[in-house]
Amino acid sequence: MSRTLYKIQSSIILPVILFTSLPAQPQQIIRPGEVWPDNNGNHIQAHGGGIIKLNKTYYWYGEERSKGLDTQYRYVSCYSSKDLTKWTFRGHVVKMADPENLGRKWVLERPKVFYNKKTTRFVMYFHLDNGSYKVAKVGIAVSYQPDGPFTFVKSFRPLGHESRDIGQFIDDDGTAYLVFEDRPFGFRIARLSEDYMDVEKEMSLVKEHMEGGAIVHYNGLYYSIGSALTGWRANANKYATAPSLEGPWSELKDIAPPGTNTYGAQSTMLIKVVGKKSTTIIFMADIWKPATQWDSRYLWMPLEIGKGKLWVPEPKPWSLNIKTGEWKYVAADPKKQ
Ligand code: DGJ
Repeated sequence: MSRTLYKIQSSIILPVILFTSLPAQPQQIIRPGEVWPDNNGNHIQAHGGGIIKLNKTYYWYGEERSKGLDTQYRYVSCYSSKDLTKWTFRGHVVKMADPENLGRKWVLERPKVFYNKKTTRFVMYFHLDNGSYKVAKVGIAVSYQPDGPFTFVKSFRPLGHESRDIGQFIDDDGTAYLVFEDRPFGFRIARLSEDYMDVEKEMSLVKEHMEGGAIVHYNGLYYSIGSALTGWRANANKYATAPSLEGPWSELKDIAPPGTNTYGAQSTMLIKVVGKKSTTIIFMADIWKPATQWDSRYLWMPLEIGKGKLWVPEPKPWSLNIKTGEWKYVAADPKKQ
């Protein structure tokens, strides 16, 4: 064989051998509506959740609803990730007994954790209620570590108002807000106090009833989303926009084809991923299974958003490049991750 031919052949063959002998990398795919395994292969239990980012790590907190838990406690789970796709279970950061004598069916729902740089505390807000949802308060629990344990501090009605579903919003300038559903009046957005241990100032009252409330600040406009009030059943979630958190808020519009009832999901949070090339806003929602809550799923989809419009594209498997901020659909893979 001539020298040149040998060189050409080895330059083709060697990379092929190297490439085929490398172990297969798991595909980094988000599959809306499917079981989402954590690092241990267990379905993620972080329902009605919220996410914060510290340095390069995301922490996802949510309701733990596995089968076989001790029914006198309520549990919150924490997961961490660098890419919003592969999640490591960090443990039950809350294992709480009824803190306010609310009865056997007491409720701890929609935990949201804020990190306070000044006090270096992780401050968790959650919906605290009795079995008939008549108490309508928020509870606060704190920890000095992201993975707990969180200790109960107090419960109250924010600014004296009823509060059931809550959502969290941290603006680009770092200011922290709580959004809460005040049944007699509507959807309130309020700023937290400096140490995050109180709800201090009302920014807006949107006179619409929205559960699963969430907000994102994108290209100079605030977008708020939420669902109607149909218990665990899905409905057509809506959004409104405003130039400032103080409003004025636009009319509500659909975020997905109304006949699909938001593809069977209910909003819980909007995550902004700012990458080197692009910014992606992820719609994070729950597909509740009221009779088998441990099997409730997640519907995460990148939004089509801008210039006052917001739309959840048809859910299909997709992947996110956390560095560039870009996302793309991926063909369904028979070898599930
Ligand atoms: C809908 C809310 O969004 C959930 O958090 C939960 O409170 C259910 N209602 C209870 O019916």
